[in-house]
Amino acid sequence: MITIRTARAADEAALAEIDRRTWTSTVSPAPPPPPGTPFFGDGARPGNFLVAEHEGVVAGYVHLTAGFDIDAHRHVLVIGGLAVDPDRQRLGIGRQLVAAAVAVARKRGARKLTLRVLGHNTAARRIYEQCGFVVEGVLRGEFRIDGVDVDDVLMARSLA
Ligand SMILES: CC(C)(COP(=O)(O)OP(=O)(O)OC[C@H]1O[C@@H](n2cnc3c(N)ncnc32)[C@H](O)[C@@H]1OP(=O)(O)O)[C@@H](O)C(=O)NCCC(=O)NCCS
Repeated sequence: MITIRTARAADEAALAEIDRRTWTSTVSPAPPPPPGTPFFGDGARPGNFLVAEHEGVVAGYVHLTAGFDIDAHRHVLVIGGLAVDPDRQRLGIGRQLVAAAVAVARKRGARKLTLRVLGHNTAARRIYEQCGFVVEGVLRGEFRIDGVDVDDVLMARSLA
């Protein structure tokens, strides 16, 4: 069974380990954080993460962040991270996490949910599409990863 809940400080180690195991050049243009880097921090409070449990074990997370800190952007929330334990992928956990993030963003009064995904991250792009996100822009060749120019794809979903 898959359940989704708000993260708690005690999830730190499990989520850091999922990040460590899923962090590749398909997922992020940035290098992985050095070992020992705290998972939660000032810009990453537990209350802004949703955690999926599968059979009672922490299996993945989605991170909801604010947009720019100006009044003109208060109606927008951002999916700033999504990852599922490689041993528990293709069970629908990622899709349930994104669907839950959509519901929470709406509950918080957001009217739009946005995200950025690398052009070659087919798995994540499929999930976002299945959850109603559309491509609103493409920064062509924005990143040079492993010797290849990779697009940065901007996706969004209206919550109105
Ligand atoms: C992307 C990710 C979160 C998907 O999690 P998941 O729990 O395996 O996804 P789901 O089981 O909910 O899959 C939903 C759909 O996405 C698509 N999908 C998922 N993984 C896929 C893959 N490896 N290849 C192609 N399509 C895939 C499929 O359409 C799938 O539906 P289906 O299984 O009915 O065919 C997971 O692969 C992951 O953690 N990747 C590394 C981190 C990452 O890329 N994060 C996104 C950053 S923007």
